[in-house]
Amino acid sequence: MNEKQALDRIEKLKELINNYRYLYHVLDESIMSESVADSLKHELSELETKFPELVTADSPTQRVAGQVSPAFSSIAHSSRMLSLNDVFNEEELRAWQKRIAKFLEKDESLELFGDLKMDGLACALRYKDGQLYMGLTRGDGLVGEDITINVRTIDAIPLTLRQKVVGEIEIRGEIVMYKKDFENLNAQRAKTNQTLFANPRNTAAGTMRQLDPKLVAERNLRFHAYDIAVFPENLKTNEEVYKKLIDLGFKASKNATTFKSIEDLMKFINLWDKKRESLQYNTDGVVVKLNHRELYKRAGIVGKAPRGAVAYKYPAEQSTTKVKDIFVSIGRTGAATPVAILEPVVVAGSTVQMATLHNQGEVERKDIRVGDTVIIQKAGDIIPEVVRPLIELRTGKEKRFFMPENCPECDVKLSKQKADEAVWRCPNNKCPARVSNQIQHFASKSALDIEGLGEKNVLALLDTGSIKDTADLYKLQKANVIELDRFAEKSADNLINAIAVKKNPPLHKFVFGLGIRHVGAQTAVDLSQRFKNLDNIGTATYDTLREVEGVGEVVAESIIAWFSDDNNINLLAKFRKFGVWPEVVKQHGSSGSLEGKKFAITGSLEGASREEMAEKIRAKGGVFQSSVGKDTDYLVVGANVGSSKLEKAKKLGTKVISEQELINFL
Ligand code: IVH
Repeated sequence: MNEKQALDRIEKLKELINNYRYLYHVLDESIMSESVADSLKHELSELETKFPELVTADSPTQRVAGQVSPAFSSIAHSSRMLSLNDVFNEEELRAWQKRIAKFLEKDESLELFGDLKMDGLACALRYKDGQLYMGLTRGDGLVGEDITINVRTIDAIPLTLRQKVVGEIEIRGEIVMYKKDFENLNAQRAKTNQTLFANPRNTAAGTMRQLDPKLVAERNLRFHAYDIAVFPENLKTNEEVYKKLIDLGFKASKNATTFKSIEDLMKFINLWDKKRESLQYNTDGVVVKLNHRELYKRAGIVGKAPRGAVAYKYPAEQSTTKVKDIFVSIGRTGAATPVAILEPVVVAGSTVQMATLHNQGEVERKDIRVGDTVIIQKAGDIIPEVVRPLIELRTGKEKRFFMPENCPECDVKLSKQKADEAVWRCPNNKCPARVSNQIQHFASKSALDIEGLGEKNVLALLDTGSIKDTADLYKLQKANVIELDRFAEKSADNLINAIAVKKNPPLHKFVFGLGIRHVGAQTAVDLSQRFKNLDNIGTATYDTLREVEGVGEVVAESIIAWFSDDNNINLLAKFRKFGVWPEVVKQHGSSGSLEGKKFAITGSLEGASREEMAEKIRAKGGVFQSSVGKDTDYLVVGANVGSSKLEKAKKLGTKVISEQELINFL
């Protein structure tokens, strides 16, 4: 990027971030998530580091957020209310520690103090001779709004300190709304047809700016203290500060601790990353400060933040990046899917460089163009998603995407099966992309589970002409494999062997592996249970198919179409010729320990992927369901759960169990 391009980009970023900040901090409206804004700020700050001559005083990186609302009177803070610089991983945390040690001319055994970062609004409370007389918002950091009348309604804030302190003191902390109070409030509003609030933070901030303190009192806000800004005695460490806060009558986190090493601190950070769902308030990270206040003061301020503290931010589930290109990927059923190639970006802890855009209609609806800066989202083990482009950042050079007329792999004209269908398809059964994806699907973990048949090897085998379809895998000779790159004697033997041992797979695995449209892993199980062998499935009538759970009109038609297609008839004949045929399901069923019990899973599991766990449940005769229904017996709850399944389970009275309890069952 040259200086001119950087300048353009910086200007656009500044405008967007400033607009976001104004709406968020002043009007309590949100046009994007905080993590998206963070990501844009990060990009801006990196550009400014690269081009320091382009830094201006009005850059969001150079000042504290917020403006004073005209509705409340403005009061100057006793000392600036700062914000924190962010770090996103251990490396950045260690780099900060190194910098601060060097700055203070100390070694790196500096004691640190860590506390969870609460997602609320900062508030300063002033007391004189033990009596509360003023509450201020952060405002712009120098001047805050006088919200005393509202602050007085918050139960957790003592009007009189529990210890008599003569003279002036100032406490700082976070006003938060607990998640359960937020949900109750919204449930109440839903009943009376009022618009719902977006999140607890915005609601808390909006509430504190109400002119009617009665309304504030009804909202049940909380206050968690984290600092004493003015005090007659000298408090040496943050540890002492937290003790004093509790003595004075404030709620201060009991989880906050002193750390002697980054290693120990990282343990705390990682532990709370896993457990943070269980907290009553939202948190997006951990605040890390020097434990010794004298050192913290000496370290001073740089820009808008203290040098002696940082916020360790948990992996954001949303971030921004650029669309480098959009290409069309042809799946095993021929579906032509536009896929965005992205500048690599870390979202929810892993690097994302591609995201499916599903179909042309979706690209048009979201108006995603090549060159756009987009919001990327990823939650738990869900595949990354492009939420929307940031139109404000467009330069005019972005290019629209058009679905090609012909398949990019085999040049056959793309078509739609039904005019109103969203998906364009390559109708050519022999299309190399379709064949390759079908073979990979057949070999995948949930199907035949043949190791060594990833994309590269399958493409190479197709390239050399050793295989033309799935059945051909079983006629592969060692010589065919050894001629490929990256294979030697032993690895070739391993692959041949891995294929050979899967000549008589379980029926449901084989059926799933055939890649019949609309037949997923669970439907394959249901079909196998009902029909017991492959011939029965292949000859089943529409009506008998419809008797199977989960087989609707579309699925039944798709199964019949698959088994009457000449290509597939030939494929099955070839399998038979090579001695490859699925096992017959025994009459008595598996009578496993979970016979007939129905399970759903929410959140991410530690010991296995969701599909692996589903497989284990099925192996014991249980049924895996993708959503909670009236007939669900157990909901298994993993880490980082969203609330919808859990809530439904609660409503329906479904028994909720942990991953460990499920493992015990198994
Ligand atoms: S210590 C320099 N401790 O995070 C300010 N702050 O980005 C550091 N926050 O506006 C204060 N939880 O309102 C501290 N446990 C905690 C916190 C916390 C939330 C807020 C604080 C500040 C922002 C800094």
